[in-house]
Amino acid sequence: MFSWSDKFLTNIDILDIEHKNLFNLLATLTTKLKLRKIDDEDIESSISILVHYSKNHLHHEELIMREYHIDYRHFSKHIMEHSSFRYDIDRFNSNTCGYDRRIIGQLEQIIRFITHWFTFHILSTDLVMAEQLALIKSGKDPKEAYDNIKDHKTDPENFNLMLDSVINLWFDARDDCKRLEESLTKYIDNII
Ligand SMILES: [Fe+2]
Ligand SMILES: [Fe+2]
Repeated sequence: MFSWSDKFLTNIDILDIEHKNLFNLLATLTTKLKLRKIDDEDIESSISILVHYSKNHLHHEELIMREYHIDYRHFSKHIMEHSSFRYDIDRFNSNTCGYDRRIIGQLEQIIRFITHWFTFHILSTDLVMAEQLALIKSGKDPKEAYDNIKDHKTDPENFNLMLDSVINLWFDARDDCKRLEESLTKYIDNII
């Protein structure tokens, strides 16, 4: 399971606090699940807190980028990643409603998805954003700040963590497809 380290620091207080809180929440839920110390109601509220907290955080980050007029080339790519997260998490959330929510596996799936998504996103995109914001705060023009960090080199250790997250996200998506395929086959078998 993921553990927080200074590698994730953006040095923007509010964002670091939110990233940390989110990972602490994910770690607490993982422990509760392992110890089976979680009931249906807990699952219900944990899912809504996780979804709500993640979305709120993305919104705060977008407000900060707008406030500092970060270069559009970074802003548009960053927003696209946030939108894809919102889409995926809403899809998860609607797939895990009602009876399904009682299945602990669904919460485990959401925890895994959020953990890997945020690990990859913070290291690949949020840190690049933070570097630009620091330059803008020091008086650089947003365009100049973007051009300055264009050749940003990822720390090899961070690169390994990012790779690990992408592989995990890919495995989960593949399992998801398999499950969909199986239920489609069952459905077709029932109607013919
Ligand atoms: Fe973030
Ligand atoms: Fe972000």
